[in-house]
Amino acid sequence: MSKPNILFVLGGPGAGKGTQCAKIVENFGYVHLSAGDLLREERKAPGSQFGELIEHHITNGTIVPVEITCSLLERAMNKSEKNDFLIDGFPRNEDNLSGWNRVMGEKVNLKKVLFFHCSQEVCTERCLARGAAGSGRTDDNEESLRKRFVTYENATMPIIKYYEEKGFVAQIDATKTPEEVYSDVEAVLKSL
Ligand code: C5P
Ligand code: MG
Repeated sequence: MSKPNILFVLGGPGAGKGTQCAKIVENFGYVHLSAGDLLREERKAPGSQFGELIEHHITNGTIVPVEITCSLLERAMNKSEKNDFLIDGFPRNEDNLSGWNRVMGEKVNLKKVLFFHCSQEVCTERCLARGAAGSGRTDDNEESLRKRFVTYENATMPIIKYYEEKGFVAQIDATKTPEEVYSDVEAVLKSL
C-alpha cells in the first residue's frame, strides 16, 4: 500500500473542525482522527498511566507531550487499515510538529493543512453554547477557553505560519454557517 495521505485540520477552539471533518468523512471517505478526542478517550481508559497528565493539560488548555499524542494517532491509523486521514487538532505546537516529523514524517504523504479561521469572540460563543448544551467537556468554560486561546495564538499560529510558508495551507473562513463553510471545504477537497 502507498503512504497514507494526510490532511491536517487546524483552527481555534470552536472554529468547527469537528463539524467539518464529519462532513468530509461522509462525502470523501476520509478517516477522521481528532487528537483531542483520542486524548479524551485515553484519559478515561481504565489503568491508563497518562489519565491525570492528560486531564491537567486539557483543563489548562496546554498541550500534551507529543510522544503520547503521536502514538495514539499512529495506533489509530494502523488500526483503521485505511489510507486517507483527517488529523484534526494536530500539530498544535513545536513539540507536536517536531515529534510528528521525527516519527511519521517519512511514513506519510502530507497533502494539505486546512486552516479554519474564525474570531476569538465567535469561537468562544460557540464553545460556551456547546458547554451549555451538555458537551460534558471540562474545558468548555470561560476560564479554560481563555487559556486555550493563549495556547492557540502563541503555540499553534506559528505552526500554521510554518506550513503557510511551505505552501500547504488552505485557509477557510469559518465564521459562516456550517453549510457555507462546507461549500468552501468541498472546493478545496476537490482540488486535491
Ligand atoms: O482539539 P480539542 O479542542 O478537542 O483539544 C482539546 C484539548 O486537548 C486541548 O486544549 C489540549 O489540552 C489537548 N490537545 C493536546 N494536543 C493536541 C490536541 C489536543 O494536548 N494535539
Ligand atoms: Mg474537536
